[in-house]
Amino acid sequence: MSLTIVPVDPANRPFFAGLVSGCDVSQPLSPDAVAAIHAGMDRFAVLVFRDQRIDDAQQIAFSRSLGPLEQATGDIAAPEDRRLSMDINDISNLDKDERVLARDDRRRLFGLGNQLWHSDSSFKPVPAKYSILSARRIPAGGGNTEFADMRAAYDALDDDMKREIHDLICLHSQLFSRAILGFTDFTEAEREKWAPVRQRLVRRHPSTGRLSLYLASHAGAIEGWPVPEARALLRDLTEHATQRQLVYAHVWRQHDLVMWDNRATMHRARRYDHAEVRDMRRTTLTNEVSSLDEAPHPLEAIRLPA
Ligand SMILES: [Fe+2]
Repeated sequence: MSLTIVPVDPANRPFFAGLVSGCDVSQPLSPDAVAAIHAGMDRFAVLVFRDQRIDDAQQIAFSRSLGPLEQATGDIAAPEDRRLSMDINDISNLDKDERVLARDDRRRLFGLGNQLWHSDSSFKPVPAKYSILSARRIPAGGGNTEFADMRAAYDALDDDMKREIHDLICLHSQLFSRAILGFTDFTEAEREKWAPVRQRLVRRHPSTGRLSLYLASHAGAIEGWPVPEARALLRDLTEHATQRQLVYAHVWRQHDLVMWDNRATMHRARRYDHAEVRDMRRTTLTNEVSSLDEAPHPLEAIRLPA
């Protein structure tokens, strides 16, 4: 069984989002398969694996074969209320007894932040590399996940904008993204845990060398800029980056596994009926270094035509 990858939508998006065949993620991967997945991620930034009936242990083993995992410290559930291990981010609407959360449950309201465009764990000093999301149970309708190609978004900026943003540093926090939705009900401990962290606005992909816009709804300030001006620019860039021609909308089937590179994409979940079960489980590879360590070459901005 050899692993092959073709574009999900060759006519409209030949270089973004690939469909993988010939890979059973419940089984140990050969070195060739690991290399093919990394090469596919470098090319497509999003990979879709269909019909992967896996349990948590298999998802963790598959993920670890691609790199070290980060821990689910971005979740809001208290340790005693967690449904899943710390190796897995719980992207469901279920409590630890598998009951659907009440509409006004604090954990659900916090989780609605996933409906804003973001890059996973950009609020951590060392953010996420790949996210690997397994659809265990899905609602009858809605709940798509949309992905935006932040390499293409960067490339499509005009040179004046590229020059202006080349070395900007943003501050990211879950407090910023939730405040957009009017969720400000944080404990002192949570405010401390999610104090803003610094991330580059333009980062270089370590294996492809491509530059991308590193945006997220978690970004609420730019160092050295007045806050309203920073937020206006971040909103403007986000609108630019999420034009429909740069977006792939994934319509989930049960047992889909979708993997994306958080260094090169943003994503958001779409609405669904909150009374239906949606059980998605995410393992996450750590990027191991900060985006601050993935700066474009200093001469790059100078080379841009004035
Ligand atoms: Fe996410």
